[in-house]
Amino acid sequence: MHALDKWIKDNSISRKILASNLNISIASLSRYLSGDRIPKQEIMEKIISYTDGKINPTNFYIVKNNKNNNFSEYRKDHLLGIEDLKESEISSLLNRADDIIRENRIQPTVNQKYRGKTLVNLFFEDSTRTKTSFELAAKRLGIDVINMQIETSSIRKGESLLDTAMTLNAMQPDILVIRHSLSGTPHLLANKVNCGVINAGDGQHEHPTQALLDALAIRRRKKRIKGLKIAICGDIAHSRVARSNIKLLITMGATVNLIAPSTLMAEGLSDYGANIFNNFKEGLNEVDIVMILRLQKERMQGSYIPSAKEYFKFYGLDREKLSFAKSDALVMHPGPINRGVEIDSELADDINRTLILEQVELGVAIRMSVIEHLINNLEHKK
Ligand code: CP
Repeated sequence: MHALDKWIKDNSISRKILASNLNISIASLSRYLSGDRIPKQEIMEKIISYTDGKINPTNFYIVKNNKNNNFSEYRKDHLLGIEDLKESEISSLLNRADDIIRENRIQPTVNQKYRGKTLVNLFFEDSTRTKTSFELAAKRLGIDVINMQIETSSIRKGESLLDTAMTLNAMQPDILVIRHSLSGTPHLLANKVNCGVINAGDGQHEHPTQALLDALAIRRRKKRIKGLKIAICGDIAHSRVARSNIKLLITMGATVNLIAPSTLMAEGLSDYGANIFNNFKEGLNEVDIVMILRLQKERMQGSYIPSAKEYFKFYGLDREKLSFAKSDALVMHPGPINRGVEIDSELADDINRTLILEQVELGVAIRMSVIEHLINNLEHKK
């Protein structure tokens, strides 16, 4: 029974009287109670006031979660990459994130359901967006967060990564989020620990939560992914974001064009079904979304471009090159951006054409969705 229905019964009033006091129809009240709709902020405020705070937004979100048929499609204990995910699993993660955004916009609340759970952030590479959004996502779910300070940890005394992971595992966290420069590190840890492992970026291999948040941004703006033409441009060779996005977008039915100079194009990506171009004029033809990548110098061994100025001239996105795409094409970038290298500074700030900050906002919801899925899956196995 919905908590509000129980409150109605306990207080010996009827749905009709409650609806009348909230100044809404009985049909609207029924939709809230069945989980089909979540009350708008002004109605929610009236409900909180009328019930002396006994009923709050959390009561409505729980009903909504249980009703979402796709919520349980993702049944894995870990999120290590996009490689093995089915369309239904990706949709499950995106759908829950969409619900979370709706809930957060009504009134962000700290969830009580996950109180007592712990998430450890283990970042061996620099990060602003991913690390902070995992911390914020966990805190919004009421989960305790430990940010391991690698530079002051026993790794500096020679402890191996596996021994560090086993030590953390002995403290029984629920989720371990790892970023590492070596491809495959999250997979290695997932075989050794009892908790859920989330890949926050491994070398130039995968960055699954980035691809998921990008997909969410596209789906929210374009109302679909299937049938869209999406170009990924720049340093494809060193990009884990590109690899995860190619796999996800093709799985979801999009056409993917890759645009890069030959020195920055990776081999084998056409095997996934991506089309390869080395110029914007052909690569952006009829494109709906243009994803730009930065030059990932931290993973380069040697010189791949003549100069940043030369690179911008041929491969930096500006309004002239963007005009080759559809007139309503949107620009995305996973960040951090290097202005004047891979993207024109003025274009990067144009909120009518770029989704850069929206991507960051959606990253919190996607990470909340992934954490919730993994914790629920692990709980069901106990
Ligand atoms: N997009 C991304 O992974 O950004 P950070 O390196 O700041 O986490």
